[in-house]
Amino acid sequence: MKKKKYFEIKDVRFRQAKASDKATVLDFCQKTFGRWGDYIPEVWDQWIKDRKGMFFVADLHGTAIGLGKITEHRPGELWLEGLRVDPTFRGHGIGRAIQDFTWVKALSFKPKFIRYATGSYNKISIHLGKSKGMKIINYYDEMWCKAPKADETKLVPARTSDADEIMALLKKDSRHKLWKGFYLEGWKAMTLDQTLLLRLIKEKRVYVYFDRQGLSGVTMLIQSKDKKYVTFGNTVARDIKTLQLVLKEARKLAGMLEGRKPEMVFPRNPWYRKVIKGTGWRHDLPIHMVLLEWKRR
Ligand SMILES: CC(C)(COP(=O)(O)OP(=O)(O)OC[C@H]1O[C@@H](n2cnc3c(N)ncnc32)[C@H](O)[C@@H]1OP(=O)(O)O)[C@@H](O)C(=O)NCCC(=O)NCCS
Repeated sequence: MKKKKYFEIKDVRFRQAKASDKATVLDFCQKTFGRWGDYIPEVWDQWIKDRKGMFFVADLHGTAIGLGKITEHRPGELWLEGLRVDPTFRGHGIGRAIQDFTWVKALSFKPKFIRYATGSYNKISIHLGKSKGMKIINYYDEMWCKAPKADETKLVPARTSDADEIMALLKKDSRHKLWKGFYLEGWKAMTLDQTLLLRLIKEKRVYVYFDRQGLSGVTMLIQSKDKKYVTFGNTVARDIKTLQLVLKEARKLAGMLEGRKPEMVFPRNPWYRKVIKGTGWRHDLPIHMVLLEWKRR
C-alpha cells in the first residue's frame, strides 16, 4: 500500500549537512540495509569535515529527511555515495529530487567521470543512475569467511619501494582486464595508479607475499573503525596456487587484525568462484555490487 503523502516536494530544500543533523540522520539510517544496518554512522564525522566535494541533506521545515554526498576522488573523478531518504518519506519523489540536485552540483565540478556503486537488487538506485545517462560498467562479487585465530601470516606490509613491482604484478595478472583499472575499497571504486598505491602503502593497507621468485602476491584492505569489518580488494598473485595461498593468508591477517567480518571483493566472474574453493572464502551472498559510470563525451 502506498504511504500517504503529507508534504509538498516544493518545500524540500537542499543545504549543506551540519553536525546538528547527526542524530536525526543516524536515527533514520539504522536499518537502511536490513540486518547489516548502514555505514553512515561510521563515516558521518569524516564526511562533515570533508571539504572536497559536497555533503548535503534534503531538508523539510528544518529537519533532514534525506542526504547525499559527492566525493572528489581526484580532479575529474567524482564518486556519489550516501543517497538516503528517511523511510517515512520514501516513494514520493525525494530520491529523485536528491539525484537531480546531485547531478547539477556534480556537473558543476566539470568532471570526466561520475560513478557510484549499488546492490544488484537496488532497482530504484540503478534507475536513478540510468536516468542521468549512466551505464553499468562492471559487477563485483563479495566473498566472506570466518577469521581464524592466528598470530602469524606470510603477508607483510608493503614498502614504498615495492610500488613498481606491485603495479607490474597487477598489470601482469591474467584477470587484469576484469578489474577495469579500479582499486576496490569495499564498494567504492577508484582509478588505481601509482599515486593511489603509494598512499595505500603509507596507510599500511597493502600487504605483499614474497617467495623464491620475489614479490608474488598482493592484497589491499580497509578496516572499519570498530575493527569489525576487514574488507580486502585487489588480491592478485603470480599464479592460481599462489593466489590461493594469499587468500588463506588474508584470512589469517584479518584474524590478527581482530576483524570479525572479513570480506573480499572480486570482479564478478566464475573464475574467482572456482579459485576460492578450499581457501575458506565463500561466495553465497544473493547480491552483488553494480558499478555505474557517466563519462564526459
Ligand atoms: C533509493 C532511495 C533513496 C529512493 O528514494 P525515494 O524517495 O523512495 O525515491 P523516489 O520516490 O524519488 O523514486 C525514485 C525513482 O525510482 C523509481 N522507482 C520506484 N520504484 C522502482 C522500481 N521498483 N524499479 C525501478 N524504478 C523504481 C521512481 O519511479 C522514481 O523514478 P522517476 O523519478 O524517474 O519516476 C530510498 O529508497 C532509500 O533511501 N533507500 C535505501 C538506501 C539506498 O538504497 N540508497 C541508494 C543506493 S546506495
